Amino acid sequence: MDELNLKNEINLDDLEKEAIENLKNVQNEQALNEVKAQYLGKKSKLSQIMASMRELSNDAKRALGQKSNEFKRKVEEFANKKRDELINAAVNEKLKKEEIDVTLPGKEFKTGHMHPLSQTIVELEDLFVSMGYEVIDGNEVEEDVYNFEMLNLPKGHPAREMQDSFYITDNTLLRTQTSAVQAHALLKAKGKPIKVISPGKVYRRDNDDATHSHQFMQCEGLVVGENVTMADLKGTLNILAKKTFGDELAIRFRPSFFPFTEPSVEVDVECFKCHGKGCPLCKGSGWIEILGAGMVHPNVLRMAGYDTDKYQGFAFGVGVERITMLRHGIDDIRTFYTDDARFLKQF
Ligand code: PHE
Repeated sequence: MDELNLKNEINLDDLEKEAIENLKNVQNEQALNEVKAQYLGKKSKLSQIMASMRELSNDAKRALGQKSNEFKRKVEEFANKKRDELINAAVNEKLKKEEIDVTLPGKEFKTGHMHPLSQTIVELEDLFVSMGYEVIDGNEVEEDVYNFEMLNLPKGHPAREMQDSFYITDNTLLRTQTSAVQAHALLKAKGKPIKVISPGKVYRRDNDDATHSHQFMQCEGLVVGENVTMADLKGTLNILAKKTFGDELAIRFRPSFFPFTEPSVEVDVECFKCHGKGCPLCKGSGWIEILGAGMVHPNVLRMAGYDTDKYQGFAFGVGVERITMLRHGIDDIRTFYTDDARFLKQF
């Protein structure tokens, strides 16, 4: 009996060392459960030892019972400790993988912004909408009738040569001026008062240089009503110039000629480069032309069905590139079209 007890004692001590050694080496929970079953489960050595208890004396039973309970407790305790360790290690591993290095420099997002020409157009729209104008769209591919004929420029009229045109067919062309929207707008208004602006692209067979481009932008303005006078036009253009250039650059009105306005004027702004002295940019004149304007020719109103005894009107066409150049001191119109981000970024 003592022998057996002694043997079991030794066995259980060795078994405990072995179990703890094995538990120490497991790498995950599944392996831990397997090792635990191996030493504490139904088919474990412990079960075999317990099964042999029947043959022992009461004293020996008690001693072995105590011993095996101790074994169980120790192995379980160690297994639990090991499980906690494994769980902690797994959590730490996960945290480490997901760790955010807050000291890394942030990603810089580059946002685009409005093209300087679009900025000018938005500002013009805001200004004129605030004075009660409506913003309307026109067609870039236009019929000869609208671009010329209804603007008092019949076929063969010498003034057509002021604007060399890109014809698509005999009767369609890329519009040479936003004035082409005038007849459309007048016909639509059916003889009633009107107050519109219309910004957009125009095309001319010009040679490109620092101040000319075969494609550029204009903003047309047209007002028709009762008692509209040249003073209204002048006042409107003064507001436009003040809003656009502030008090920094002088402006001047100069008599001019357009077939669709009578009388006609052109407005010049003091050259920003030489301030009136004359330089290559302003071609020695000291002034840069920014717009053409005038009182709508009665022929234009009549052709669109207006009663010219009752209604008068004024119209103007501003060069969008020109005023943008003057405002920002840009000395070459071509820079607007080259898509050079270094240039565009500055505005
Ligand atoms: N359409 C003219 C041009 O392109 C400008 C203008 C518009 C003149 C309206 C008078 C009235 O030069």
